[in-house]
Amino acid sequence: MKRIGVLTSGGDAPGMNAAVRAVVRKAIYHNIEVYGIYQGYQGLMNGSIKKLELGSVGDIVQRGGTMLFSARCLEFKTKEGQLQGIEQLKKHGIDGLVVIGGDGSYMGAKALTEHGFPCIGVPGTIDNDIPGTEFTIGFDTALNTVIDAIDKIRDTATSHERTYVVEVMGRNAGDIALWAGLAGGAESILIPEADYDINDIVQKLQRGHERGKKHSIIIVAEGVGSGVEIGKQIEEMTNLDTRVTVLGHVQRGGSPTAVDRVLASRLGAYAVELLLEGKGGRAVGIEKNQLVDYDIIEALARKHQINMDMYKLSQELSI
Ligand code: F6P
Repeated sequence: MKRIGVLTSGGDAPGMNAAVRAVVRKAIYHNIEVYGIYQGYQGLMNGSIKKLELGSVGDIVQRGGTMLFSARCLEFKTKEGQLQGIEQLKKHGIDGLVVIGGDGSYMGAKALTEHGFPCIGVPGTIDNDIPGTEFTIGFDTALNTVIDAIDKIRDTATSHERTYVVEVMGRNAGDIALWAGLAGGAESILIPEADYDINDIVQKLQRGHERGKKHSIIIVAEGVGSGVEIGKQIEEMTNLDTRVTVLGHVQRGGSPTAVDRVLASRLGAYAVELLLEGKGGRAVGIEKNQLVDYDIIEALARKHQINMDMYKLSQELSI
């Protein structure tokens, strides 16, 4: 392997830049050239590809977003799109590719692998929903952004003795909601992985109100449904003054936490190590603080598991 490519794809996540930096620096350390592919798979198909030097990734470890830009590319789901991408890689003499992104990005990496092009998937998404890793790059930062918002909402919720519903991202996974709910002391946490009964939530709110609770916070993962609708339902059923905050894309921005920067650096460098060993078609991850890698096709066939013990704990602590 003499020349590798790196791209970021799908929803951006804080720490993607740190991962790109790790890929570039680790490769150059081993005398491998690195090419940056801009705008994800879209840029791969269009040949938006430029050589990266050590200095190209200077001053980015602390920055949110991705210097390589990102895109969601429907065309790359087709065989024609994928072959066009491989043609571009070959044209630039690239022998291996590191793909940093979420499950959609992994699907692209899986397709390239099946066409015989060595790819390594690095989990970069705030959703923490990639199988084969306990944590994804960006999750910790998003979580801290949500906690910061919950703490602020709590101040105004207490002053006005209100109930607040906070809708968080996560696509079909409830990890952001669960971790933020537990860390933020939420009264109820609604996640797509567990059924909920609105009557139980209402009763809990009423119990709290009767024993003099000044405010309540309910976290709703977007995968459960609209926080606005749930907020309306709660207000109607409890008669408690209720407000809804949909945190939205603020969760995707900001300077990555130290945890995300370190994770990104380790995973990015490990992806290069695997390519150097001549391995392709792998997905890297972290388990029990150890770097791991799995066959990308097998990893994608598995399902991300949320920690249900933590969910149970959150219920026990918010009686
Ligand atoms: O996958 C990251 C994510 O932010 C999800 O949590 C959310 O559902 C989705 O992306 C939003 O996508 P877009 O930025 O394309 O609206």
